[in-house]
Formats: sequence, structure tokens, C-alpha cells
Amino acid sequence: MRIGILGTGVMASALAEAWTRRGHHVLVGGRSQDRARAIAERLGDAVEAVGPAQVVRASDAVVVAVAWEGLDQVLALAGAGEGSMAGKAVIDCTNAVDYGSGLLKPSTGSAVQHISERAVGSRVVKALHLFAGTSWLEPTPAGQPKRTVAMCGDDDAALGIAAELVRDLGGVPAVIGGLEHARQLEEVAGFVMQLVAGGHNPVTAVPVVDRSQD
Ligand SMILES: NC(=O)c1ccc[n+]([C@@H]2O[C@H](COP(=O)([O-])OP(=O)(O)OC[C@H]3O[C@@H](n4cnc5c(N)ncnc54)[C@H](OP(=O)(O)O)[C@@H]3O)[C@@H](O)[C@H]2O)c1
Repeated sequence: MRIGILGTGVMASALAEAWTRRGHHVLVGGRSQDRARAIAERLGDAVEAVGPAQVVRASDAVVVAVAWEGLDQVLALAGAGEGSMAGKAVIDCTNAVDYGSGLLKPSTGSAVQHISERAVGSRVVKALHLFAGTSWLEPTPAGQPKRTVAMCGDDDAALGIAAELVRDLGGVPAVIGGLEHARQLEEVAGFVMQLVAGGHNPVTAVPVVDRSQD
């Protein structure tokens, strides 16, 4: 698949590396062409550094890996308001979380709905916001279950593409519902951060329910 990544930071770089290891071609771009070029130079021929508009135009699916504060700028650079992302599967991994309080910065809605409203006609999915990007560069530790990637969205085809890309990372996709679940899903990141800040392992803060014997 040709995967476009909007964003040129740690997350974009890690996902680009992980997906190219599985044979995908990645186009990466953001507001800084230099940072996009640095990722492409590090990862070789399977990654192209292009402008945000070309990321969207030349890809089968688009991943948004940008800071909350940068979303509007990168979407504008990509031509989202003019319909450049219409019909595209768009996977959003933004954490619009205030790291001090663990609360979401937008008082209502969610980052992925913010994108949906601006990227006219796009088919958005919330996914991949909970695990560190670099965790996808390592195999699941021996004896541990594969990582479950909870996701939500209203478009079945886009959810299918997101699920395929999650499996290629070594994760297990889990669709929890439509976009009405987006804020709930985004809140989980702040919940996890607060537990970690308090010295707890978030894995121990949810019930262990083994359905494998059902
Ligand atoms: N890192 C992870 O493991 C991880 C995991 C899950 C989700 N995420 C989410 O993925 C997104 C990117 O995270 P990251 O770790 O890659 O962050 P990062 O390394 O700091 O990169 C941030 C990206 O957003 C852009 N950006 C930042 N502020 C901006 C602004 N005010 N206007 C325009 N663009 C701006 C940066 O562009 P410049 O390079 O030009 O500054 C860069 O492309 C965040 O929403 C984060 O919550 C990250």
C-alpha cells in the first residue's frame, strides 16, 4: 500500500520505519520539508519526502501524526478544505491531551472529529494513539499477548484499511464503534498518562477478562 503520513516527528518516523519493514511504500511530509527529507534519508528508497499536498494526493491511506496545535496548519497545507482528502481513509493518532492535567484540550468533540470537519469528504478513523510509535519497531515481548489497538470510525472500508495496517504493525485491531466513541477513546490517553504519573502500571488498572475459553 502507498501510505501517506502527515507529520515529520517521532511518531511519523517510527510508523514509516515499521510499515516499510512490512513492504509498504511511505510518503512523508509536514510543514518542514527538511524534517521529511531526514526521515526519507534515514529509511531509504521505500520512503519519499514530499509536500503535504502530495502526501495526500499520492497515497491510498493517510495517517495524521501531528501535534494538536499543528493540525489546522498541516490540513490547510494538504488542501483538506478544498477536498483533497475526499474519499481517503484517514487514520488519526493525535493526542490532544494536556500533559499536566491529563485532560483533553478541546472542551468538546475530539481531534479526529476536528479533522473530519476540516478534511471534506474524508473517511476518518481514530487509532494508534495509545502506544508509543517506537513500540511497533519491537516484537511483542515473549509471553505477552499482542497489543490491542482500539479504534473507531463510521466508514467500514476505512476501518478495514486501518485494521490491515495495524495487523502489519503486529497489533490486533479492535473496533469499538463509530465516531461517537472518539472522545472516549481519546480520553484513554490522558487516563493512562495520569496513572503512569502516579506510579501505576496502566495494565493493572483495568480488569483482566480472559475470553479465550468462551
Ligand atoms: N510519539 C509517539 O510515540 C506517539 C504515540 C501516539 C500518538 N502520538 C501523537 O502523534 C502526534 C505527533 O507526535 P510526535 O511524537 O511525532 O511529536 P513530535 O516529534 O513533536 O512531532 C510533532 C509534529 O507535529 C508538528 N507540529 C508541532 N507543533 C506544530 C504547530 N504548532 N504547527 C504546525 N505543526 C506542528 C511538527 O512539525 P515540525 O517538525 O515542523 O515542528 C511535527 O511534524 C501527536 O499528536 C502525538 O500525541 C505520538
